Amino acid sequence: MTMIRLSAALILSGLVFGVGINELKADPLVIAHRGASGYLPEHSLAAAAAAHSMDSDYIEQDVVLTKDDQAIVLHDIHLDAVTDVAKKYPDRARDDGRFYAIDFTLEEIKTLKLGERINVRTGQPVYHQRFPTIPKLLTIPTLEEEVLLIAGMNASRNKQVGIYPEIKQPAWHRKQGKDISRVILQVLKKLGYQKLEDPIFLQCFDARELERIRHELKCQLPLVQLIGKDKVGSDDYAKMTTPKGLQKIATYAQGIGPDLRLVISDFRDGQPQVTSLTQDAQRAGLIVHPYTFRADQMPSQVTDFATLVRTFAVDAGVDGMFTDHPDLTRQALESVPADR
Ligand code: G3P
Ligand code: CA
Repeated sequence: MTMIRLSAALILSGLVFGVGINELKADPLVIAHRGASGYLPEHSLAAAAAAHSMDSDYIEQDVVLTKDDQAIVLHDIHLDAVTDVAKKYPDRARDDGRFYAIDFTLEEIKTLKLGERINVRTGQPVYHQRFPTIPKLLTIPTLEEEVLLIAGMNASRNKQVGIYPEIKQPAWHRKQGKDISRVILQVLKKLGYQKLEDPIFLQCFDARELERIRHELKCQLPLVQLIGKDKVGSDDYAKMTTPKGLQKIATYAQGIGPDLRLVISDFRDGQPQVTSLTQDAQRAGLIVHPYTFRADQMPSQVTDFATLVRTFAVDAGVDGMFTDHPDLTRQALESVPADR
């Protein structure tokens, strides 16, 4: 494997100028999933800073809106799995018992303490060997704050780490009277992200919304179509992963972000069952960034994280990986033999 790391800008300009992705030899990108979330509470500025210092190529931000239309970095539309909202605002749950970010102003959200994710039903940590759920020491950042933090560390560390925002549940936001995509695009524009070659990927599960972003909102940023394992609403992932479906995605996006089980379906008897998805997507001109590589939650029959990472890089040939453990992912990739 060549040790030259090509930025998304280079890869994408390769696409623009007609160089096929397969002809560009690059290490897969290390994409810090919710920051370095294997070590610090997800989507905290601390997790983003740690991810930067672990030499991630990109840092991911899941984004939802507040009541006053502020874009905040939070994985769920709910606040209760990662903050002390139930304690601080006990009367503000909806009928389903959940606390929604969209029912709170940014000022209110800034009073909450952010910590490690819990299962709201049991109160137990989702990951038992990660940062403790108590104490909660951090706060929820806005998208702007996190991007400014990354820009600051890019300056102080002389790096060009990119950002990877995900637009969360645009159809749900619309039902609540909000156009989350427009808000996010405005924030990104203000921060200087507007062009195809900028160090950003903008991702979403909702295919219709991505098409709207490309065609109606005239967004020129690199877009990534997320693909789950199961059909959700109008998003028929089985159709998306056919060669025809991938060609359709290539009309509005630069890449796909599939569940990693769609890339290697199984490790039966230790043998990776590599699907044709990566090759089919790359043939359609799409880059492939599967999710999520976690050292503490690996596919069954896999015991070694470095082997998992290297198998996706070498056997499947993916272009990047979303990972909760960017340091371990980087180490694993650096130990791939040069003759990959
Ligand atoms: O965006 C890639 C991956 O993060 C998708 O899953 O649920 O962690 O946002 P999720
Ligand atoms: Ca995400």
